[in-house]
Amino acid sequence: MKLTTLKTTLLAATIALTFSSMARAAEEVEVLHWWTAGGEAKALGVLKEDLNKQGITWKDMPVAGGGGTAAMTVLRARVQAKNAPTAVQMLGFDIQDWAKEDATANLDSLATEEGWDKVVPEALQKFSKYDGHWIAAPVNVHSTNWVWANKKVLEDSGVTEPPKDWDGFIAALDKVKAKGFIPLAHGGQPWQDATLFDSVVIATGGPEFYKKAMIDLDKEALGSDTMKQVFDRMKQLRGYVDDNFSGRDWNLSSALVIEGKAGFQIMGDWAKGEFINAGKKPDVDFLCFRTPGTQGSVTFNSDQFVMFNVGEDRQKAQLAMAKAVMSPTFQSAFNVVKGSVPARTDVPNDAFDDCGKKGMQELAEASKAGTLMGSMAHGHAAPASVKNAVYDVVTKHFNGNVPSEDAVKELVNAVEGAK
Ligand code: BGC
Repeated sequence: MKLTTLKTTLLAATIALTFSSMARAAEEVEVLHWWTAGGEAKALGVLKEDLNKQGITWKDMPVAGGGGTAAMTVLRARVQAKNAPTAVQMLGFDIQDWAKEDATANLDSLATEEGWDKVVPEALQKFSKYDGHWIAAPVNVHSTNWVWANKKVLEDSGVTEPPKDWDGFIAALDKVKAKGFIPLAHGGQPWQDATLFDSVVIATGGPEFYKKAMIDLDKEALGSDTMKQVFDRMKQLRGYVDDNFSGRDWNLSSALVIEGKAGFQIMGDWAKGEFINAGKKPDVDFLCFRTPGTQGSVTFNSDQFVMFNVGEDRQKAQLAMAKAVMSPTFQSAFNVVKGSVPARTDVPNDAFDDCGKKGMQELAEASKAGTLMGSMAHGHAAPASVKNAVYDVVTKHFNGNVPSEDAVKELVNAVEGAK
């Protein structure tokens, strides 16, 4: 081969390679998320597959750690390095914090074209939009005041029906304990302790008290006798966890219930994803009911995919992902697996199991009654600074020897300092 021919061939090959990698970059989304448990990964698979069918590849960026703060720490490093991922799983007030930093993309034209304003409830739009502009695509609504129970363990322990109030719950925990099972499957991590706290605040003070203390951050409510009782009840629950609970991941606690080693777990409805993934059926193998004393109220959180500022070559795939996330058929398929309910109000409930149907109905009822409230534990009641301050106090009390009176004082001071 002549030298000039060789040069031409090499040049052609280089051009072809450049174009093909450009095309690849344009058809790829890099997604940061914390969905690493079995049920979560399966639900994410529904989205990956959907995008794959459109020729978009998925670059996975998982950060284990559940609903804690690990993912946001990783994100901070990426954004500081001016190398933001395409999309990031995010909760509530965190979304607003990132938008304030001018790090997010503008999805307005897609949102208008697809009519998002009409189908996404106000309570979610509050977080999906910043300064009136769409920046995120909400994929679900989870609620956090659920109990997951092993039906056979309850039967063997003589618990004949789901407890309806706090005393009933304690009596049921005692019965399960007396039979040698772990009464309460729990993982001692700050966000999980705070998930219990959300429920106990409502069970003790009712929804108005929850709103005053956790959403309005009212000093009087935070420092009240009712709050002392909340901490006393947290200590009461502490007496029903097993010796190995410290630091345990939430899905391993779900596994204890699934495997019939434990009676109950208080956890958001992502736990259902684990039961389903293990082949278990609602009402046959497991029961789902609201944390006793919180019936009629729903504490919610919504996972949203926040779209970040990326180069022009990645925007097409980014918009395709946002569109896919918001499609009604996708929202049904995804949430059936994830344990959550759709973030759109126009998705039929046919494909959902009994727990899912119950979740959808109770969400709508609570929304009407004014008892649908953002979860503090999951970033929908107050900004991260306050949430983290609450985590610290709750965890220190739950895991240590802090008297409830002191925890109440610490809570007031911590929230005041973080506001
Ligand atoms: C998220 C869920 C997730 C759970 C545990 C929550 O904060 O909203 O989607 O399954 O954390 O990882």
